[in-house]
Amino acid sequence: MKARTLLSKFLLTTMTVAVSLYMIPCIMAADVENCDLCHKYSGLGRIDESGKKHLYYVNEVLCQQSVHRKIRCKECHSDIEKYPHSNLKKVDCATVCHLVDPSTDKKFSHANMIEGYELSVHGKGPEDNLKPHPEDLPTCTYCHENRIYQPVSGLADDHRGVAQEILDRCLGCHEDEEWTRFFYDHFTHRLHQRRSSERMVELCASCHEDEELMELHGLIVTGTFHDTFHWQAIKYGDPNAPNCITCHAPVGYSSHEIMPSDDPRSAIHKDNLVRTCSNQGGLQTCHPNATTAFAQGRVHPTRYKTGVFETKMRSFQSLFANPVTEELTGLEYYQHLILQLIKYFYMILIGGLISFMILHQLLDYFATRREIEKGGLH
Ligand code: HEC
Ligand code: HEC
Ligand code: HEC
Ligand code: HEC
Ligand code: HEC
Ligand code: HEC
Repeated sequence: MKARTLLSKFLLTTMTVAVSLYMIPCIMAADVENCDLCHKYSGLGRIDESGKKHLYYVNEVLCQQSVHRKIRCKECHSDIEKYPHSNLKKVDCATVCHLVDPSTDKKFSHANMIEGYELSVHGKGPEDNLKPHPEDLPTCTYCHENRIYQPVSGLADDHRGVAQEILDRCLGCHEDEEWTRFFYDHFTHRLHQRRSSERMVELCASCHEDEELMELHGLIVTGTFHDTFHWQAIKYGDPNAPNCITCHAPVGYSSHEIMPSDDPRSAIHKDNLVRTCSNQGGLQTCHPNATTAFAQGRVHPTRYKTGVFETKMRSFQSLFANPVTEELTGLEYYQHLILQLIKYFYMILIGGLISFMILHQLLDYFATRREIEKGGLH
């Protein structure tokens, strides 16, 4: 009770919390439930016992443009009955809302997605047999906030914004602008990748580069991705560069159904790798001529040493020291050797080149001085 009064002290204090406002899913301006009576105040927030800031402000304008704009607050926050509301449950994304899917005439919810997601590697496992540390797994809201519609302006690129010319065409037949605009947004929003590849890597890496967390789950950390050509290509904005989802949920897979590599349904199961690398039928051009041998290369190079996962390739190591003798197959050892040889070749080449250049400059310097002393040069 005491904590509660303490908390309510913090209530309604104006805070400048620099969080994106559309983090909070929401609804229409004509707020029939009157939630905006209080939630329209940008200062509505509190600081909890652990010092964490909560912002309860809901921006109506942004709400109006978001993917959930047709859903009423209480359809998601179904347990709000009194003010102040106490002990609200987390929103369940499987809740059925008033929308009807026009393709099936069934009441709409994300239940089918959740079902698929629960079977993926990020699922928590069956109720009676939860995976160890289920709290480490990403939840729906970890990856998704209430997105603002970001329609593409031209179908050929991913430039954000409405192409008035295209909308004008729709309006030529459909006279109600609001209606038409809604469907225009609905479709075009989905015609491009919503998260940039860099942001996607950041999202997955927020867990998969956390050494402690990954060790707990017996997984390698994927930090070496930043050493790869794939990452360089992303950084330089190559539209064909793969991010985490491109390979782990390629064409024909749902983004939610990532499976571990030993599952035959997984895109990275050894039998499916050629298809994943070649990405036939996908929007991106990857390695159309990929062969089985090609697909064997390690995407996330790592070395396993006495129980500790090493995430950074060491800059220098003995040519024949096999860091993972007990882990590498004959072929992998051979590949490792070739890689090391190439590395040595370049190290010697570059080292030699720089040394000779320095030597050349020095000799040149002394020669010039000698000439000056001899009086030959002025
Ligand atoms: C009379 C003012 C008032 C109205 C009306 C109101 N709220 Fe709130 N709401 C608050 C305050 C104050 C808080 C923050 C304190 C708290 O946790 O109770 C809050 C917090 C919340 C939270 C966050 C709770 C948490 O602990 O995370 C949700 C969700 C919420 N409101 C939803 C709604 C919805 C949906 C409606 C409309 C059906 C609504 N509110 C109407 C005042 C109001
Ligand atoms: C599509 C479902 C959905 C709708 C519609 C929705 N919310 Fe939420 N809301 C969520 C989810 C999910 C969260 C994250 C917390 C959780 O999981 O319970 C949340 C969180 C909040 C919070 C707390 C933010 C925090 O930091 O804890 C407030 C306040 C809130 N919503 C208010 C509203 C109001 C007011 C409306 C109507 C204008 C609304 N919501 C409509 C799903 C929804
Ligand atoms: C690990 C991150 C992650 C988690 C967790 C996750 N999703 Fe997704 N979700 C994605 C990605 C990636 C996409 C593909 C579209 C994109 O890039 O936004 C997607 C797409 C979607 C879409 C389609 C959106 C659209 O506009 O086309 C819905 C709906 C969705 N997810 C719902 C859920 C629900 C419900 C959950 C909880 C069971 C969930 N997601 C959990 C990453 C995630
Ligand atoms: C040449 C006229 C014309 C143009 C241009 C046009 N539409 Fe339509 N649209 C129609 C007609 C007629 C129907 C009903 C057809 C039917 O039911 O088979 C329709 C149906 C629809 C529907 C389905 C509505 C429902 O509830 O079944 C949507 C959504 C839609 N149009 C959106 C758009 C968008 C967005 C654009 C612009 C990109 C557009 N239309 C351009 C004539 C047009
Ligand atoms: C070019 C395709 C590709 C990209 C991009 C990619 N992966 Fe992978 N990933 C694979 C393949 C193939 C494997 C199987 C093992 C291997 O080859 O290293 C794998 C394995 C994994 C594993 C399992 C490791 C284990 O212990 O079994 C995780 C976790 C993982 N990737 C996460 C990620 C994350 C996070 C990203 C983004 C930073 C990412 N992957 C980007 C293809 C890819
Ligand atoms: C909130 C943390 C979190 C986020 C975000 C996350 N993961 Fe995971 N991921 C995990 C955990 C924990 C596991 C281990 C699950 C288990 O033990 O069954 C895992 C397992 C995996 C595996 C299976 C490895 C194997 O072979 O067993 C892959 C592949 C993977 N994640 C890819 C991704 C990709 C791609 C993304 C981004 C879209 C992502 N993860 C985002 C926490 C996360």
